[in-house]
Amino acid sequence: MEKTCNNVYITTPIYYVNDVAHIGHAYTTIIADMIARYSRLTGQKTFLLTGTDEHGQKIEQSAQARGKTPQEYANEVSGKFRALWDDFDITYDKFIRTTDDEHKTGVQYAFEKMYNKGDIYKGDYEGFYCVSCETFFTQTQLIEDEFCPDCGKPTNIVKEESYFFKLSKYEDKLLKWYEENPDCILPRAKKNEIVNFVKSGLRDLSISRTSFDWGVKLPQSINEPNHVMYVWLDALLNYITALGYGTDEKNMAFWPAKIHLVGKDILRFHAIYWPAFLMSLDLPLPKHIAAHGWWTRDGEKMSKSKGNVVDPKQVADAYGLDAFRYFLLREVPFGQDGDFSQKALMDRINSDLGNDLGNLLNRIMGMSGKYFDYQVVSKDVEKFHAKELNEVNALLENVEEYIFNMQLNRYLEEIWKVLTIANKAIGDYEPWTKMKEGKEDEAMALVALITNIVAKVALLLDSVMPQKIAQIASCLGIQISTESYNNLIVNKNLIEQTTITKVEQLFPRIEEILIEQAPTTDLSKNQTEIEAKEKKETKKVEVSVEDDNLITIDKFFETSIKIGTIVEAEEVPKSSKLLKLQVDLGEGKTRQVLAGIKEFYSASELVGTQACVVANLKPAKLMGMLSEGMLLAAKDENGLNLIRPEKPKVAGTKIS
Ligand code: MSP
Repeated sequence: MEKTCNNVYITTPIYYVNDVAHIGHAYTTIIADMIARYSRLTGQKTFLLTGTDEHGQKIEQSAQARGKTPQEYANEVSGKFRALWDDFDITYDKFIRTTDDEHKTGVQYAFEKMYNKGDIYKGDYEGFYCVSCETFFTQTQLIEDEFCPDCGKPTNIVKEESYFFKLSKYEDKLLKWYEENPDCILPRAKKNEIVNFVKSGLRDLSISRTSFDWGVKLPQSINEPNHVMYVWLDALLNYITALGYGTDEKNMAFWPAKIHLVGKDILRFHAIYWPAFLMSLDLPLPKHIAAHGWWTRDGEKMSKSKGNVVDPKQVADAYGLDAFRYFLLREVPFGQDGDFSQKALMDRINSDLGNDLGNLLNRIMGMSGKYFDYQVVSKDVEKFHAKELNEVNALLENVEEYIFNMQLNRYLEEIWKVLTIANKAIGDYEPWTKMKEGKEDEAMALVALITNIVAKVALLLDSVMPQKIAQIASCLGIQISTESYNNLIVNKNLIEQTTITKVEQLFPRIEEILIEQAPTTDLSKNQTEIEAKEKKETKKVEVSVEDDNLITIDKFFETSIKIGTIVEAEEVPKSSKLLKLQVDLGEGKTRQVLAGIKEFYSASELVGTQACVVANLKPAKLMGMLSEGMLLAAKDENGLNLIRPEKPKVAGTKIS
């Protein structure tokens, strides 16, 4: 039996060329590479795309700041990305640059098609623009009428002639797509945010700019030499121009994408704009858009000023590329934020890789050498180990679904359960005792069981740790190929017999951290950008209330929620939403809390009442005023209600 062959198209975001690669870029790229390798091994025709996003105001400004032309600057940084992925053995089938001629032709072709369909019209744009996020905003979306709600940086006022895409026309179609395709956005919890955003109403999108010229020109037929395309339209179209859309369409058979991998910060562009553009182009929509979380370092946000940005190359050089790949995929459930520390990486290497996997191979080499002159024969495995084999087969039968559901850590956990069965079997059956008792056939069956388990696991881990698995394969005398995969995994067969070859220890124990200095990249972010990222993350914490990802109890207790008594309340002038409250949390003096509840409560009715307050939030400024806590509330179509204790409690009482 073989699997039917499908076309599998996997993409990473294309990376902006104003930055060198850091752990976040490596994370997405390694996940994409893992899925692509897995698909190829299982016999699927696979196309992995990565590349660089090189146009737009941000790149133009970064180049100017370095005294370079945007093209020179883009060539330099794009080259660094490509060199890193080559160094990391990323098996991309194409590395696209948005400055490639074919891409530009494809983008113009798409623009013309959307225009001819009546989805693009000319108008005047008046609003705000965040260069750092390359995003348009209306005044009501801004923080304190000025700052970007996503990154916190000051926005620019933009007033210029512009072409617009009729995004509003696609609102209902998008909602229908989300509804009919439960897994189109993964993890599912992230989908709610997108659906709510679309339900709140979509405005038409400005898709051309006239105030700078580092971008793709509009098609000649439109005859607007002063306009360049909005960088997100240009960038998103890379996913089809890379397959030849609008030029040589020979690879378009790979469309639609199986998975677009993105970070959570750029999900909105991919889950709203991109499908709407595709609908306009009458192209099928991607199967999955999968959004991962962000990495911190030793529990802290990464920033240049702290000197703690993780340089993936430095980590891979010190600890090994495969161990780093394993760590990234195993440490954090996809979609959640993760923390990088050398300690956590060492623990994974010593425990999962060294103790569980590496030792098993040592045992195979040791026992097969000592008892059987390295010859392993499987003929009695079924007879003595039917139970273990059934357990192993049952676990391995279902692992693939974890990959395409983007539960990559679960995938690895299941495989590690199989390794546990093998390690346990050695302890339970003690082949050395069997040998002493003269039961050689039983000892051989055990060694062969372990050999087969490691061989099966090797096939499934090849996508995760290709270099180490090549070593394991040469030790066990097996091929890592689609044929072996079909034989050992799909058809659940055993290797009939094999000769074991000694290889060096796979994962030597690491006793101390290997990088003295904090691994940093030479990121050229300035302080404002760093602060912006931090603000962004603070905001994302609020959004993740809807997230149904599981957390540990310790994580929950990181949030300090207390009973607060509202002792004063007043309206904030010029704000339609905010009330300014003085809240007693039993700390001797009151805290000022700004709450967006004016539409639902009057100031006077709140005084003397109690509410539940998040007491350890980083203070934030809203409309120039400090807010030192957050009231818990629930809002549905009937309005908003504060969450309060059933009976009065002493101010400051902890909620648990
Ligand atoms: N150019 C756009 C993408 C266009 S795709 C059509 C872009 N580029 S980026 O270089 O700024 O970001 C690329 C990816 O890196 C994003 O998916 C983002 O989420 C990810 N990361 C940036 N910092 C990160 C972490 N600290 N951790 C994990 N990923 C993060 O956006």
